[in-house]
Formats: sequence, structure tokens, C-alpha cells
Amino acid sequence: AEQKATNVHWHEGEVTRAERNRLLGQKGATLWFTGLSGSGKSTVAVALEKVLTERGHLTYRLDGDNVRMGINKNLGFSAEDRAENIRRIGEVAKLFVDTGVIVLSSFVSPYREDRDNVRALHEAGDMDFIEVFVDVPLEEAERRDPKGLYKKARAGEIKNFTGIDDPYEPPLKPEIVLKSQEMSLEEEVTLLLELLEQRGIIG
Ligand code: PPS
Repeated sequence: AEQKATNVHWHEGEVTRAERNRLLGQKGATLWFTGLSGSGKSTVAVALEKVLTERGHLTYRLDGDNVRMGINKNLGFSAEDRAENIRRIGEVAKLFVDTGVIVLSSFVSPYREDRDNVRALHEAGDMDFIEVFVDVPLEEAERRDPKGLYKKARAGEIKNFTGIDDPYEPPLKPEIVLKSQEMSLEEEVTLLLELLEQRGIIG
């Protein structure tokens, strides 16, 4: 992307990320939940957030409601707008990780390239990026249809709806796959907690 600002220099502070992590007793990281609308991304993120908070960990959830109504309210669902949506969310997540927060980010994020860019952004900054593929068959997501959007998409009232007339590119090497149709919410949360422990994000 084009760099518009010139003469911009990074100002190094005197407090490090490691010190902030120590203060919080955890390592900041991004858990990136991706999957179809209705796959259960937000449900898992909400459940995990609750358990982590009970255990004394600082988390922050980024999802459609607090992002597409705020920082990204000028974006729609074209491939270009989705890319910009994910790019901005990636940058925001990175700021939170630098603060020491465990970010739970739930977006359809249907394009592999957009997700890989967020991964690269984190890895370049030596930050953990954990891609969580919330994997349900389209038929199941459509059967659930919690917001009635699949019905509208089938009726042609919504265009470019992911899974109907817009693509979803599943991750090739996600850190974890949650088959939310076959697992209980508790099992999903347990798996994620184990992963966070293995990675040294929580103690
Ligand atoms: S993306 O692709 O990552 O930029 O999308 P995201 O910001 O996660 O927003 C997806 C939610 O918006 C609703 N919605 C649509 N989804 C997919 N395609 C189209 N065209 C669309 N229009 C509206 C939908 O309810 C998604 O919500 P979730 O929570 O995922 O069900």
C-alpha cells in the first residue's frame, strides 16, 4: 500500500512490551476467529472471554458490533472493503497485543490473503497470531441463520453474501480448527485454554 505520510518517525518509549506483559501476568496475543456467518465465532469468543476474565486475564473482544459501527462504519462488503476492514482490525489488534491484552477477534474474514496479511503484521512485530477456524458446513450455518441473512441472500435481497454468492477461503494451516457442530462450547473453550497455556500466553 502507498505510504502517504513522510517524515514520520517511530518514537521509542522507555517502557517495553515485556514490562507490560509482566505487569499483567500474561503475554498479549491475537486469537483470530474466522468462519462463515453463523458458524459460532462470536459465541466461542464470548465464552472464552468470560473464563479468561474469571482467571484474572485481561482480554478484549473485537467483532462486528464494535467495529463495523465504529472505526469501520464507512466500509461495506465488497472484496476491497472487506480487505480494508480486516487490515484496520489487524492494526488495532496489534496495538492491543503491544499493550499486553489477549485479543479475541471474530470476523468472517473470508479471504486468505487478508488473514495472512494480519498474521504477517503480527509476526513481523514478534507477536502471537493464533488462527482459529470455526468450521461448520454451509448447510449448518444456513440452518441456524440467527439473523435471517441467509434467507435474504437466497432471495437475492443481500448481494455478495459469504457462502452464497461470495467466496469463503478456509485457512490452510490454522493453529486450531473448531468443528462447532460436533463439539460442545465447553470443549471448545478447554481446547483454546490449553493452546494458550502451551504457547505461554497464560500461565
Ligand atoms: S468481513 O468479511 O470479515 O469483512 O465481515 P465481518 O466484518 O465479519 O461482517 C460479517 C457480518 O456482517 C453481516 N453481513 C454479511 N456477512 C457476509 N457477507 C455479507 N454480504 C454480509 N452482509 C452483512 C453478517 O451478519 C456477519 O455477521 P456474523 O457475526 O459473522 O454472523
